[in-house]
Amino acid sequence: MTAQPALAAPEEPAVSDPSIKPSAPTLPVITDGTTLFEQFGGRDGLTKIMDDVMPRWLQNSRTRPFFANSDQERIKLQLVEQFCVIMNGPCEYSGRTMAEAHRGMNVDEAAFYALVEELQRSLNAMKVPFAAQNRLIAALAPMHRDIIDK
Ligand code: HEM
Repeated sequence: MTAQPALAAPEEPAVSDPSIKPSAPTLPVITDGTTLFEQFGGRDGLTKIMDDVMPRWLQNSRTRPFFANSDQERIKLQLVEQFCVIMNGPCEYSGRTMAEAHRGMNVDEAAFYALVEELQRSLNAMKVPFAAQNRLIAALAPMHRDIIDK
């Protein structure tokens, strides 16, 4: 009999274009420790964070061009789902892979870091504990390979 893993990894969303090969998981689930999702205030807390951070991304000159003409409400919902899954919360991610969602957008390093910096401002404003913030950022960092266009 084969041992089953305690926590099955969620299915990555299907990639509709097989030429797009992800190099980092879209859903790098943090399975150690159970309180991260709670430390972010659960799904309601994540929603508040997205409501706070989207205006910051629209204000920041490095991120604004990408979000100005996008469906901001939909992105916020996808981010709530994605972060919830990453934190091993009780959600499902219904969006695209990071490779697919950001393809051809020409996101550069400066825009990536500006986005993360504004997110950290929101997390501070929402009083998310610093150690919890770091765990999320560490999970997001490897995604840059699929998001930044070289
Ligand atoms: C770790 C960093 C990032 C994460 C976790 C992330 C996550 C996501 C997610 C979950 C979506 C929704 C996918 C879907 O619609 O199916 C999305 C879409 C989007 N992201 Fe990101 N993203 C990141 C970095 C960036 C950066 C740096 C930019 C630009 C500055 C950016 C701009 C956008 C835009 C404009 C969309 C909407 C695309 C569309 O509607 O076609 N993202 N992102």
